[in-house]
Amino acid sequence: MKAITVETYGGPEVLQLRADVPIPTVNPGHVLVKVAYAGINFMDIHTRQGKYAASVTYPVRLPCTLGMEGAGEVVAVGAAVAGLAPGDRVAWCIAWGSYAEYASVPAARVAKIPDAIPFDLAAASIFQGSTAHYLVEDVAQLRPGNCCLVHAASGSIGQLLVQMANSRGAKVFATGSSAAKCAVAVQRGAAFAIPYDNGRFADRILEATHGDGVDVVFDSLGKATLRDSFRACRTRGLVVNYGNVSGSLADLDPIELGEGGSLFLTRPRLADYMADGPTVQRRADAVFSALLDGALNIDIEGRYSLEDVQTVHARIEAREQIGKAVVCIGGAR
Ligand SMILES: NC(=O)c1ccc[n+]([C@@H]2O[C@H](COP(=O)([O-])OP(=O)(O)OC[C@H]3O[C@@H](n4cnc5c(N)ncnc54)[C@H](OP(=O)(O)O)[C@@H]3O)[C@@H](O)[C@H]2O)c1
Repeated sequence: MKAITVETYGGPEVLQLRADVPIPTVNPGHVLVKVAYAGINFMDIHTRQGKYAASVTYPVRLPCTLGMEGAGEVVAVGAAVAGLAPGDRVAWCIAWGSYAEYASVPAARVAKIPDAIPFDLAAASIFQGSTAHYLVEDVAQLRPGNCCLVHAASGSIGQLLVQMANSRGAKVFATGSSAAKCAVAVQRGAAFAIPYDNGRFADRILEATHGDGVDVVFDSLGKATLRDSFRACRTRGLVVNYGNVSGSLADLDPIELGEGGSLFLTRPRLADYMADGPTVQRRADAVFSALLDGALNIDIEGRYSLEDVQTVHARIEAREQIGKAVVCIGGAR
């Protein structure tokens, strides 16, 4: 089968499109899926760069077939799998191998897709939708009257966080690296969106909150913004550092959280918030139903082929991507 494999860590050039990859065998607890669409996301970039080379939470090792979110049709089920059958339309994430014609996926990571959700939208929403859902619902537990700051709010998770926080009645402030990206955040429902301005976003947030700061900061940048995110947060507020696209703040002293106003800091991971099949399905259902009733919108920026994946990876790293890119593999509904 065709698949994109990685044998050494590095830039987009290490992605290899091969036509001779064996179709995976179906382990007892897995299902074999004919992949219709795979999503492309920043975690694929981190994986390709080697950031998970020693990860315990995400033990993806080389050589591997890249891609960890997708949607398609079940074509075979393992001997130990109950509740899934050939012909089922499913989506999944945090299981590697979706940049391929077939993927073997642990049954516990698979969600069924309602008929009204096409495969491309399911592939575009399952990973980042589930992530935004656990961040807003379980980690931050936003309530009406809360206010929060979403960094990189035109990014895939950023746009979903803005919309889900709004749906829970929170006021949302946002950041973005360009006027066009800030405009996307406002279009998604942010009260205002501002540039990072070398950390001076924190001063603007303090002004807007009468010196108090926000209840929650969602920070996916890490090193470039985290200390100023502390400044933008209220006393005993919560800073959710869910990504490190600018690198990791390696020299953090816990005393800084005390000086910042007895702050809470968490570095959560989706795998720990969807530990079983029912949770995976519950989050997927919440995302799919919000898409169907119009509470949530995802722009699929482009439907690419496996040949285009290198280019899309390069664009994401160059910070040029706005909207979700999916790879059309088997296609159709
Ligand atoms: N903790 C979890 O459970 C979890 C789950 C899924 C993903 N993640 C992580 O969340 C982060 C965001 O994921 P995503 O899928 O939303 O990514 P995305 O759609 O590619 O958005 C990333 C955004 O980061 C900003 N950015 C800042 N510095 C950047 C840089 N040096 N290079 C590229 N972009 C940069 C860009 O917005 P501006 O240009 O406006 O700054 C960009 O839109 C990633 O680190 C990903 O691994 C975490």
